[in-house]
Amino acid sequence: MKPVRADSLDTSADRGPPLIRAHGLSKTYITDSGGVTALKSLDFEIYDGEFVSVIGQSGCGKSTLLKVLAGLLPYTTGSVELNGKPLRGPTPQAAVVFQSPVLLPWRTLLDNVLLPIEFRKLPMASYRQSAADLLEMVGLSDFTQRYPFELSGGMQQRVALVRALVQDPRLLLMDEPFGALDAMTREQMNLELLRIWSHSRKTVIFITHSIAEAVFLSDRVIAMTARPGTIAEVITIDLPRPRALSSINTERFGRYAAKLRSLLDAQGGMF
Ligand SMILES: Nc1ncnc2c1ncn2[C@@H]1O[C@H](COP(=O)(O)OP(=O)(O)O)[C@@H](O)[C@H]1O
Ligand SMILES: [Mg+2]
Repeated sequence: MKPVRADSLDTSADRGPPLIRAHGLSKTYITDSGGVTALKSLDFEIYDGEFVSVIGQSGCGKSTLLKVLAGLLPYTTGSVELNGKPLRGPTPQAAVVFQSPVLLPWRTLLDNVLLPIEFRKLPMASYRQSAADLLEMVGLSDFTQRYPFELSGGMQQRVALVRALVQDPRLLLMDEPFGALDAMTREQMNLELLRIWSHSRKTVIFITHSIAEAVFLSDRVIAMTARPGTIAEVITIDLPRPRALSSINTERFGRYAAKLRSLLDAQGGMF
């Protein structure tokens, strides 16, 4: 049995029932020219508090998988359970962060963060403080009354992350959230995400194109095949936490990255 790490779930010991259980999950889009099978017969389980990345080449079905897990897209066959119950549509238990922060330009940061609360007709007053606290946690407390155009891309994506967290979801679904940021900002965002994750104990499913990002962040990495997307292999990343950027230069990190590289190369590379 592996030792239990301080800020991560032991991936081998008794983890209780999974938060997500997908069985025989397939998704075929119906188009004018026939069907496009994006996902085919996926079986996987994700446990409470885990950080799991999904990596695979463009068009292999990563975003499709995320939208299915968010309840935003119906699947074709198989089953998906969230917390032991069949997933039938969007749920406050799961929040999504997309690659583009999609902030409303005419609303202040605080009001952007409170958007899902307003949308779900929850009592705004009782969420105002937690929204302000979360903005403080990501270093934006001086910006609560500012507008999105006054922020850098990294800051905007922090707001999108806070907006997802304000509903206190159990599951955070992230679709290449830092893909549009420059390399330095992206590294900072990765560190910040790990800090938030270790404090908030959310379960995270993180989609990325970057092998280094997947290894750096994750407890496990799901490597997908080319379309129709199936699971090529699931790799457990047994690197100590908390992780520092310097861990990227270690031999163990390099071995995980090389393993993922060879899996993706076997699918015809990343593009
Ligand atoms: N709404 C749609 N209708 C038809 N085909 C789609 C639709 N959305 C995605 N696809 C197709 O499904 C496949 C998987 O897409 P996607 O999940 O976006 O992949 P990824 O995020 O890995 O790049 C692609 O071949 C894409 O063209
Ligand atoms: Mg995508």
